[in-house]
Amino acid sequence: MIQVKNLTKIYFSYKKTGDFLKDLFFKEYKKIIALENISFEINNPEFVGLIGPNGAGKTTTMKILSGILYPTKGKINILGFTPFEKKKEFLRQISFVMGQKTQLHWDLPSIDSFYLLKDIYEINDLIFKKTLSQLTEILNCQELVNKPVKNLSLGERMKMELIASLLHNPRIIFLDEPTIGLDIFSQEAIRNFLKIYQKEFKATIILTSHYLEDVKKLAQRLIIINNGKIIYDNSLNKIKKEFSNKYLTIYLEKEIDKKFFEKIGEIIFYQYPKIIIKINKQTLAEKIDFINKNIAYSDLAIEEEKIEEIIKKILKNSFSKKTKS
Ligand SMILES: Nc1ncnc2c1ncn2[C@@H]1O[C@H](COP(=O)(O)OP(=O)(O)OP(=O)(O)O)[C@@H](O)[C@H]1O
Ligand SMILES: [Mg+2]
Repeated sequence: MIQVKNLTKIYFSYKKTGDFLKDLFFKEYKKIIALENISFEINNPEFVGLIGPNGAGKTTTMKILSGILYPTKGKINILGFTPFEKKKEFLRQISFVMGQKTQLHWDLPSIDSFYLLKDIYEINDLIFKKTLSQLTEILNCQELVNKPVKNLSLGERMKMELIASLLHNPRIIFLDEPTIGLDIFSQEAIRNFLKIYQKEFKATIILTSHYLEDVKKLAQRLIIINNGKIIYDNSLNKIKKEFSNKYLTIYLEKEIDKKFFEKIGEIIFYQYPKIIIKINKQTLAEKIDFINKNIAYSDLAIEEEKIEEIIKKILKNSFSKKTKS
């Protein structure tokens, strides 16, 4: 469905020296390697979270995959097409939504833009009406389509953007920070919608977001990029399994010396009667057994490490590898 092989993207921007003649004839180019030799495949309709820090290369990847930008090197095959050739049959099957940009006419009600898209994509009347009513229903926004876009709140506008980009029933959807700037309720509404949409329409969705809540709730697979390179690509469950530590919170019945707990794991917090210890997942069962045999407690709870922490760890690892090499 999506095959990306050895994709590299280099941007050239030129530095201005301020000297008009010099700038005109001897442009000094600066090379920015936005993507360096990345490869991945997506073979089934799945929800993929593409994450990484600012400037990692996420938007560049999405732009190349959707045909907006040329790659500098590498091969990309999406549904049998090469994206930058921008074949009509390719564009009909994909969609690209950018949280920070609008594709709607500012002064007109969204419904007018929807009709325009209907013509562009040559969507049949019946299918258009059916899709529109399905989408507005799941997003609970039937009345909003008649309001001029400029009068909509950011969250309301995002709903309209999503409808606009899904009317032609694309098989592959690129979502670049669709929840940026939205309040938690609107974020939740968009998330719920995307979840239902992906299930119902069996679409492949690639999502970038700095809100890890989006990724946690939606993505089945995570591709983590940093500095233009893929540093991790695996299912969310596998990432959790591989990297997650456990946090044990114990309420003690008797005060015990801190030293004793250092044998069990890393002490995160201790103020009698409460202690929190970080434990490697592999040794959890054995440590609990030890605690049960040796410590009197009134309560014990086990918590998973948060995905935020896990991702930070993966990114940190990649930074330290880089400085070593
Ligand atoms: N048109 C451009 N010309 C020159 N450099 C660019 C251009 N677009 C992006 N870059 C650079 O390429 C790198 C990757 O940018 P990109 O927008 O893909 O990052 P991102 O992962 O989407 O970041 P963010 O999380 O901030 O959106 C950055 O160093 C950026 O400055
Ligand atoms: Mg970006």
